[in-house]
Amino acid sequence: MATEGWGCYVKDIDGNVLLDLSSGMFVLNYGYSHPRLIRAVEQQLRKLTHFAGTDFYYEAQVELAERLVDITPGKFPKHVYFGNSGAEAVEAAFKCVRWHTRRPHMISFTGSFHGRTFGAMSLSGAPTLRREHFAPLVPEVSLVQFPDPYRGPFKSSSECIEHIRNRLGKDIPEEKVAAVITEPIQGTAGYVIPPSDFYPMLKELCEEKGWIFIVDEIQTGLGRSGKMFAIEHWDVVPDIVCVAKALAGGIAPIGATIADAEVMDWEPGAHASTFGGNLVACVAAIEGLKILEEQNLVKRAEELGEMALKRLEEMKEDSRLIGDVRGKGLLLAVDLVKDKRTKDFAVKEREMLVRESLNRGLIVFRGGKSAIRIAPPLTIGRRELELGLDIFEEALKEVERKC
Ligand SMILES: Cc1ncc(COP(=O)(O)O)c(C=O)c1O
Repeated sequence: MATEGWGCYVKDIDGNVLLDLSSGMFVLNYGYSHPRLIRAVEQQLRKLTHFAGTDFYYEAQVELAERLVDITPGKFPKHVYFGNSGAEAVEAAFKCVRWHTRRPHMISFTGSFHGRTFGAMSLSGAPTLRREHFAPLVPEVSLVQFPDPYRGPFKSSSECIEHIRNRLGKDIPEEKVAAVITEPIQGTAGYVIPPSDFYPMLKELCEEKGWIFIVDEIQTGLGRSGKMFAIEHWDVVPDIVCVAKALAGGIAPIGATIADAEVMDWEPGAHASTFGGNLVACVAAIEGLKILEEQNLVKRAEELGEMALKRLEEMKEDSRLIGDVRGKGLLLAVDLVKDKRTKDFAVKEREMLVRESLNRGLIVFRGGKSAIRIAPPLTIGRRELELGLDIFEEALKEVERKC
């Protein structure tokens, strides 16, 4: 049970101090209790906390919207919708594309996680959601296989695109498709990174068919991958970008859906949320984006990520459990296997490694069936990250000794 936090550290109810390499589940990109975020929020609390953002403007909402328009890929007019979470950002994208196209159908990917509300869950392929227990889901969603370079089944991006094309006119009603949604790098699945030519090919397919291209950057966005948005690694411009999690640095809930203005063309009242883009969250988000820029945190994520990836690759060489190491920026994953040749998921060993790390004062998160995600605050010191990786290696050796 957590009671206090600062920088990369969190204290539990027994007074133990833990080094958090998960950023409080990928939210605290600026670390715990950043003094600048606290100051911004304190000042706002004394001025105004709520009026009626759905029907009137707040200056902070406008400023944040302008900043988001600026930093998201694509130099064209955009509209921004504010909600309170990642799932709400995805719901807004889902409703927006149905409104704009008047078409019902969506294409999403196996292994994807877009949130736990009905629309977002119906768009998700992640088995952890236990979709079958909540049936019936929102209809008109087709899940297609995500290209996973480590576990397959596709050997190339073209095979994946062919797989989509082959389903058109069969179980995917081509002319009824409104949009394709994807996490550029699948988060909950354990940072699965598709091949470098995948998104250009997928975007081309979307353009050919007149489908809207939505990226869910809720876990990957805002500098974490060493680019402002992970989709920039593929040099592809999406029509809609969803952000949440780290946007207000964990100070207050917020989500945003940033869309090409031609696509987000709904009438006032078509969609809204009482607390969406609340003032406290907006000022924290604005201050956070200033920190990101002034402290060059995107570049920093890239550089520290390279160092960490190299270190994890060295660990892989000496380890019989690590089957794959992957990452971009400070978005890193270690995939554990029972056998490097068969790649069988080392489920029990992964649980042991999370536990051994925790026993040594280190927080890392699960991802997929047998991976571990490492995603520290972008403000982490080089030495702190090295220390975290030392502890991780020690825990790994202990698990290998016990198995
Ligand atoms: C990629 C992605 N999309 C959507 C969500 C849902 O966000 P929230 O929990 O804020 O609704 C998450 C949360 O983990 C996520 O990782």
